Formats: sequence, structure tokens, C-alpha cells
Amino acid sequence: MIPSADELLTIDPVGYRGAFDTLPFGFQHSLHKLPMFQPEALARMAERYADKPQDFFVAASASAPGTKFYDVKHSMFKPHEALGQLDSSPVRVLLKRLENHDTEFRDLLHTLFDALADLRGGLRGEKVLRLESSVFISSAASTTPFHFDPEINHFFQIEGPKNYHVFAPSAVDEADLERFYVKGVVDIGQLDLARCDPKQEHVFNLEPGRAFHQPQNAPHWVQTGTVRSVSYAFVFETDASRERSNARSANHYLRMMGMKPQQPGLHPSADHAKAAVMQVMTPMRVGVRKTVKQVLGR
Ligand SMILES: [Fe+2]
Repeated sequence: MIPSADELLTIDPVGYRGAFDTLPFGFQHSLHKLPMFQPEALARMAERYADKPQDFFVAASASAPGTKFYDVKHSMFKPHEALGQLDSSPVRVLLKRLENHDTEFRDLLHTLFDALADLRGGLRGEKVLRLESSVFISSAASTTPFHFDPEINHFFQIEGPKNYHVFAPSAVDEADLERFYVKGVVDIGQLDLARCDPKQEHVFNLEPGRAFHQPQNAPHWVQTGTVRSVSYAFVFETDASRERSNARSANHYLRMMGMKPQQPGLHPSADHAKAAVMQVMTPMRVGVRKTVKQVLGR
């Protein structure tokens, strides 16, 4: 039985609403006290993932924060095998889409999502297209390299310390975002750490009971401390957030033609028109530059 959201979360509602999907925002939680997050329960979950390769990711530690994400050695163990290696070598284990594997995790996800969506002021007519939760189990002194994710995130520290370095999405060049979204895939976005303004960096020194909200496209890199770390996160996309992503892919072509396209989010009707064009054009690709120019003319 999952406790109520009031028992699980301590959060400043005004601050959260003001920061939502714009700035990283810290809050408190008590998820780490739930039986489902205790080491034995997590070990049992890891075993259940052994024959679900599409739902887990196992990787070594990056040598430095600026290492390219997929240059790090990965997919060398199954999750339960990797957990056995945690004390002897730096390894990171990600169990994805927990809600599809366990009813308690499904209930937890919906309890948290409903409460935080209410705090933000409701969905305001937006439709949820993707809502997923994950657990990250990492050995001591392991590094997740610099990247951004195409989804809105809430991140909860469950066990051990973790230093989470995150930038506001406004630290990223629009052209870099457009280059990522034009690919039309759900993946991580690669960026150059040296090109992000250090003044926009937020550092969360996470420990059990601490959490934060990470806006979509907020670049980050992460380092664990002297003992193993367990974190839980849930991410989501709505039709409106997906539309802004698709508008960025249209902007990629407009920028290639020498135009200075408007940033998504400022004019929803322009975002809608661009996204609609890309929905048709992305599978075809052929002649896309010419068509986008003719239809949008800006
Ligand atoms: Fe990430």
C-alpha cells in the first residue's frame, strides 16, 4: 500500500509552480522509507529484469563528466549480475519502466504524478503521451556524463549521496536542441559541457530524502560519493511538450535556410503549425527544406 502524496512529499507549491519546466527546483520526500526501495527488494526487482533487455541499461562509469554518453562501456552484464559487481568496479544499473513490472511501482508513479500535476495547476487540457519511472543503482565514485533528456523529470535520492550538476535549459543553444530533435528519437542529447554558462549551473548535493524537479532539456552530469547510490525518477511528456520538440525540428530546417526561427513556447499557434508540418514531413524527409519554407514562410 502506497502512502498518500501528503506523506511522501514536502514541497513549496508556489516555488514549484514558478520553476516548473524552466528551472531546477529542490524539495523533500520520504520514498526512501518504503519497503519497495530496501536493498533486498531492489535485488529481487533486478532479477526480474534479466530477460527484458529493452527495459534495462548497464554501463561502466565515465572517465570524466565530458565523456560522450555512449562511448562508455555498456551492456556487459544483466542487472542482477551488475549489482554483484557494485563493490568491485564502478558500474551503473538503470531499471526502466518499473510500472510495467510491478503494481506497487505503478501505484507510486500515479500517486506522485497526480500530486505534482495538481501542484503545477493541473494538466490544463494537455494529454500525457508518456509517463515512465526508473531506478538507478550506481557504485561509489561513478560518473554519468554530460547530456540532456527530452522529457520533464522528478528525481528522488533513495540511498547514499549523489552530486547532481544541472543547468537550466536556457543554458543550451537553440541550434543544439534543434539538431537533436530533428532526429525524432527518444534518446539522450549530447552536448559540450565547456559551452554551457557556468553561472547557470545548479548543484544538488542529494542524500536520502532529497529530490528535485529537472526541466526538459536541462543538461546535467552526475557523480556518486563514497558508497553506492540508489535513485528513483519519473519522467513524462505531454502533447504540448512533444509539440515544442517537433517545432524545434522544423526550426532546424529553417535555421539551415538562414532564417532566425522563433523559439518554441512563445507562440503556441506557430509551434502547432510547425509540429503539424514535421509530423507529415519527418517520415518522408525528401524535399523537407523546400516544403517547410513554402508552408511556414518564416
Ligand atoms: Fe539524464
